Amino acid sequence: MSHDDTPLTVTQANVRMYAPDGTPPPDAPDWIDHFDHPYLHGAFAPSTLEYEAEDLEVEGEIPADLYGAYVMNGPSQRFEPVNSKYHYYDGDAQLRAIYFRDGKASFRQKYLRNGAFVVEEKAGKAIWPGLAGPYDFRLPGGPIKDVSNTDVIFYNGHIMSLWHMAGDPYRVDPLTLDTVGRETLGGKLHHSLSAHSKSDPVTKELFFFNYQDEPPYMSYGMADPDGNLVFDIDIDLEGPRSPHDMGLTENYAILHDLPFYHDVDILKKHGRRVMGFHRDQPARFGLIDRFGRSETVQWFEAEPCYILHISNSWEEGDWVHMTGCRQEDPMPVKDPADHHLASMMAYRRRTHIMYKWSFNTKTGETREGMLDDRNTEFPTVNFNYVGKKSRYSFNQIIPVPEEGSLEGRCQTFNGMMRYDLETGETQRYDYGDGVYGSEAPVAPASGTTPDSDEGRAYPVTFITDTNDWSSACLIFDADDITKPIAKVKIPRRISIGFHTTWIDGHEIWPN
Ligand SMILES: [Fe+2]
Repeated sequence: MSHDDTPLTVTQANVRMYAPDGTPPPDAPDWIDHFDHPYLHGAFAPSTLEYEAEDLEVEGEIPADLYGAYVMNGPSQRFEPVNSKYHYYDGDAQLRAIYFRDGKASFRQKYLRNGAFVVEEKAGKAIWPGLAGPYDFRLPGGPIKDVSNTDVIFYNGHIMSLWHMAGDPYRVDPLTLDTVGRETLGGKLHHSLSAHSKSDPVTKELFFFNYQDEPPYMSYGMADPDGNLVFDIDIDLEGPRSPHDMGLTENYAILHDLPFYHDVDILKKHGRRVMGFHRDQPARFGLIDRFGRSETVQWFEAEPCYILHISNSWEEGDWVHMTGCRQEDPMPVKDPADHHLASMMAYRRRTHIMYKWSFNTKTGETREGMLDDRNTEFPTVNFNYVGKKSRYSFNQIIPVPEEGSLEGRCQTFNGMMRYDLETGETQRYDYGDGVYGSEAPVAPASGTTPDSDEGRAYPVTFITDTNDWSSACLIFDADDITKPIAKVKIPRRISIGFHTTWIDGHEIWPN
């Protein structure tokens, strides 16, 4: 039997398929039983339910100055996948939003109806393969499905969905979660946008980047608060790259050219994206004028690494600083089991540590160093402090499997860590056995400004409990995250998601 025929059982991957009393995850489609796949079961099982719920049950008290919406984008595969190579990143984009107003909470869950989703909905079945292929270049729109399920930001009065492979951004009504249409920036956006393009919560402008396999391999641009493209600059790189995030400070954008990218010859010949880590090449970070006043990029070199997510970036005199979660070695350790999902599972074993890079714009010097050695990711800061010097970073804790062990590989965030970058101290909260959390945006207390105390804010996270398939939103005080100040019950199970945002209430309830 070849390894392609050898299934990875959900038991091997340590996924809890049923609650201890034998209950399967609710709202999952029946077809998941056809797939012996860890990311279609348990906490990862799709929930195809679309619904809304008012006046949610609360333990504790929702702070009166928590005013706005916490929105998460994430995968929830609607139709039976076209093959068994389903990848964790493939599921159709589903938005989950909790709204806080007058000390009360309501919730809504709805699919994003982007181009591929609408086509498959009409067909009544899945059409595109996912990330693990095999790529089908005869399909309209692309050889794999642009699911737009990775990231979510708020821009020009709407939620914008974004995809990690760089795809078509979509606009969504922030209250109804109805899909409005593709974001074209007034018809002037002629390429894809990457996940982690950013909207400035204070100036409301959009700063975006794109990467692609043909020149220009990268671009950087900006749109004004009303949806008009201001500029779009080609960035000169030696070949295709796979950046995932960018930094933004008062005057600069920080572009990532990292030595972990796919082989362009293999892509051209075989249509496959084979990633390689080029240890002999530096990580490069390009500072470009944030507002496009100059197209000159000042490149800084650093030790080779890969980065998924930065925490924050800011300026101090001649220095530009960036904090984030660094992968010392992004190549996956070979999985001890030989099975058809080995590559995907191995990538899930990478570690990420909090790190700081500093770039001197006068001398060209780079300084860098580790801030902590624990495995955390999906860092967030108080929205008022994005692009400004911040003291705290709120990261999700990722359990580290024992070396060579099959256990724990499919677990996701099991706690939250708060790093104090001034004192080096940390606080943590563990979600509990079999309970998984989500990226936790830090909602500024209503009425606060970038001049207000950084601690006047509320990290919020969705949790899903595999012990009874319940879900909730936990609200923390940014000054003390060792226990939540309120737990808001979500009526149905939430499937594990990806990125999130916080939308100030004044943006969605003008009166
Ligand atoms: Fe991301």
